Amino acid sequence: MDAILSGRRMRRNRRTDWSRRMVRETRLSVDDLIWPLFVVDGNGVTEPVKSMPGVERFSVDLAVRAAERAAKLGIPALALFPNTDPDLRDDHGSEALNPENLICRACRAIKAEVPEIGLITDVALDPYTSHGHDGLLEGEEIVNDATVARLVAQALVQAESGADMIAPSDMMDGRIGAIRRGLDAHGFTHVQIMAYSAKYASAFYGPFRDAVGTNKTLIGDKRTYQMDPANTEEAIREAALDIDEGADMIMVKPGMPYLDILARLKTTFGLPTFAYQVSGEYAMIEAAAANGWIDRDRAMMESLIAFKRAGADGVLTYFAPFVAEMLKAGA
Ligand code: PBG
Repeated sequence: MDAILSGRRMRRNRRTDWSRRMVRETRLSVDDLIWPLFVVDGNGVTEPVKSMPGVERFSVDLAVRAAERAAKLGIPALALFPNTDPDLRDDHGSEALNPENLICRACRAIKAEVPEIGLITDVALDPYTSHGHDGLLEGEEIVNDATVARLVAQALVQAESGADMIAPSDMMDGRIGAIRRGLDAHGFTHVQIMAYSAKYASAFYGPFRDAVGTNKTLIGDKRTYQMDPANTEEAIREAALDIDEGADMIMVKPGMPYLDILARLKTTFGLPTFAYQVSGEYAMIEAAAANGWIDRDRAMMESLIAFKRAGADGVLTYFAPFVAEMLKAGA
């Protein structure tokens, strides 16, 4: 029967704000936010990232202040990324294993002053290699197993510096199991692993590579290790392997163009599942808003509720401090 004749009117529940609030199915809270922070050498340094308006790189001392701000807002965790001095980058990404590197120093400094915030560190060699790849390059090949051995060592220096959660973003095969065994063998059984399980070879990472200085260094592309944007079943297999190898949480990246993957992984495995709203997604919203083409705050909030609706347990997002402030103000 016709909806109106039968008296079924979907708009009835939407008429008033109080009613809309009653029937709302998903909510965004500050607990859903992970704030990715870029760290740079020096003292008292803040450097704007040109392609990410509103985002800055901080020297370690100011990263501590940012961590304080995040903790005050109730953001549970930060994800740290370094902009390594070009002189310290080499073929093997040696600086990744240096316990005095930017990330390790940032971890120790933040842990000392803001112990209540969770620290997630990225495991991959790209901010440290002269060729900008996440792994070791031999000829034209990114070699898997030799890379994994270095990633384990990288994870260990991070854990020793106070990282609470290791987030391998490199997409090498077998790295989750190897890192888990390495951590456990060194007494870090409590350190969590968030696996970038379905990480796609995406054009949306451009501004991030600007932020960490790998746009200049990257030779070629990452399609022999990051996933083909055309694939879904492969994402299921990647996640199954990571879970089998010991991942505590899984992640999908990029975010908005891959909500279908996020929903599939969440319903298939039921693990804590996160989305990374990457740099290019952030930049698109900021750029359109700067042109007056969209309402920035509304687009920001809508993009984040979309992740929740698709099943995300949380989102890595450069909007984190802004969203946390809006939520605090009662948005
Ligand atoms: C590198 C890494 C990348 C991002 C996080 N870790 C870029 C890449 O794979 O080239 C992208 C994050 C973003 O775009 O916001 N291992």
